[in-house]
Amino acid sequence: MKAILFGLLTLSLPTFAQLPLPALIPQPQSIQAGTGQFTITAKTQLAVLTPVAEVRQMVQTSLPGLRINDLAKPANNITVRLAPVANIGREGYELVVSPTGIRLTAPEAAGIFYGLQTLRQLLPAERERPGFRFTGTSVTTSKNGIIPAVVIRDQPRFGWRGMMLDVSRSFFTKEYVKQFIDLMARYKYNVFHWHLTDDQGWRIEIKSLPRLTQVGAWRAPRTGRWNNRENPVPGETQSYGGFYTQDEIREVVQYAAERQVMVVPEIDMPGHMLAAIAAYPNLTCSGKVVPIYPNGKFYKLEDNTLNPCNDSTYLFIDKVFTEIAQLFPGPYIHVGGDEAFKGFWEQCAACKPLMAANGLKNVEEIQSYFIRRVEKIVQSKGKRLIGWDEILEGGLAPNATVMSWRGMNGGIAAAKQGHPVIMTPFQNCYVDLYQGDPSAEPSTYGICRLSNSYAFEPVPDSVRTELILGGQANLWTESVPTSRHAEYMVWPRAFAIAEVLWSPKNTRNWPDFVRRVESHFSRFDVAGINYSRSYLNPYVTVQKQTTGIVEILLNHELAGIDLFYTTDNTLPDAMSPKYMQPFVFPKGADRLRVVAYRDGKPIGRMLDIPFTDLATRAR
Ligand code: ACM
Repeated sequence: MKAILFGLLTLSLPTFAQLPLPALIPQPQSIQAGTGQFTITAKTQLAVLTPVAEVRQMVQTSLPGLRINDLAKPANNITVRLAPVANIGREGYELVVSPTGIRLTAPEAAGIFYGLQTLRQLLPAERERPGFRFTGTSVTTSKNGIIPAVVIRDQPRFGWRGMMLDVSRSFFTKEYVKQFIDLMARYKYNVFHWHLTDDQGWRIEIKSLPRLTQVGAWRAPRTGRWNNRENPVPGETQSYGGFYTQDEIREVVQYAAERQVMVVPEIDMPGHMLAAIAAYPNLTCSGKVVPIYPNGKFYKLEDNTLNPCNDSTYLFIDKVFTEIAQLFPGPYIHVGGDEAFKGFWEQCAACKPLMAANGLKNVEEIQSYFIRRVEKIVQSKGKRLIGWDEILEGGLAPNATVMSWRGMNGGIAAAKQGHPVIMTPFQNCYVDLYQGDPSAEPSTYGICRLSNSYAFEPVPDSVRTELILGGQANLWTESVPTSRHAEYMVWPRAFAIAEVLWSPKNTRNWPDFVRRVESHFSRFDVAGINYSRSYLNPYVTVQKQTTGIVEILLNHELAGIDLFYTTDNTLPDAMSPKYMQPFVFPKGADRLRVVAYRDGKPIGRMLDIPFTDLATRAR
């Protein structure tokens, strides 16, 4: 297997010498540019050489306006064939575009789907206009159907290429969830991790527990920065929220399946449960009645954890998972397990006898006991358990899959114990973090630049490769109030993670990736989809900060950029001081302004940072 891979990779190397190739994301396993082009016109016919209805439908959807005619001659037409291809894998495909026609071959429907996504990206950006159809009946008038000649052989590096959307902190409509899935699938993601419950809202109808959505889906309306939001006021109308009915869930699951996307539902427990507890207060140790907070300020003050020491908690979980298992045909249920504050368990009357009876020494072992019991429930519904890496603490449940988010170490530890792992370290994969200098971004926390996402390597040296199922981009939505802003946070970082998860490791090429990202921005412009250009902005780090001395470093994610700055309260341009090396911020100056130039032209936003903000930035 290694030898085969090596052969393919070396074969693909010479093609990289002839840049620029078509701007595909993710980069295919191998691509060779041909000469000339093929033009799809409204007369082009589709020969779909398989009776499989799913495949026929996806071909028709992807090439709107063209007629399926299985007797069409290959010349000047598009031939799609479901047929074996040597060493291409379940999701692989071969796509040949020549001046005389297009041929797409794959052994399974998934490969046809991915080949069609590649074909779509080979078309001009106009393809992305909503309602697009091929028009024009001659090659001279059909400029929107031009495809460069190319030979592509492609298959993914990882089987788990996920994106997570948190619909609890901010609620997103079913229509937006579908758009999110549609766009993921176009970049060859195949897992939609649906974070359906959290402290700020329960978003899935559970028929046997109606208060979960009657009460748990609604909270006080608030706007502004997450932790500046006022607590709920007694008697206030709980007017913000929403949930998905079971019919809507089935509709989304079906929509995802048509795009080769598996939906993994997450019901986060034992922590992050405040919305459920607001609906059913007896779920906690104290049974205290609590409101749903539209912020995170209640953490450790109100008990947002299930009582792990009471049998009725497990009856609740059983009811929830009975319905969840029926709604989601995929093999997994994600049970969360992250950030459970266990302080209330220490005082819990029910926990003392349980600890004694089960030989549990501390609250971590209580969580482990809880997750093991939950795993039995998950398995009794015919499903497999996934949890965040905190489920390692106190000992892993026997068949758990671990999603490593607090860096890579949880994933490494789980793999060393023989467990499957999905890598999603926040430093590379959390697309809710700042993607550029915080002074020029909507408020959030942390930092995960586009280049950090692109540098993500899911397989650490020290583990068995086959245990790393893949990775995932995660969008938490405490600071993402609208779908428009969700798009801004996701793209282009999700381009980077798509490429990490699909493309061979040694095809990664940052400058070429940036070229392709900018080409896909044009496609998004036509489609009306939002994205962020923050990687074009400068960013500032503060190196030394002793009494009164603040040393400033100016940085940029791209090479070959010139940075110009001022500290005299004027607007910088290419005649301002050019940044050469770290400098001490002048005494008395009140703000720093910085601009970036590429090839003599300004790019990105100007940074404008008050001295007081610089002084508080730690290195
Ligand atoms: C997490 O970010 N709490 C999984």
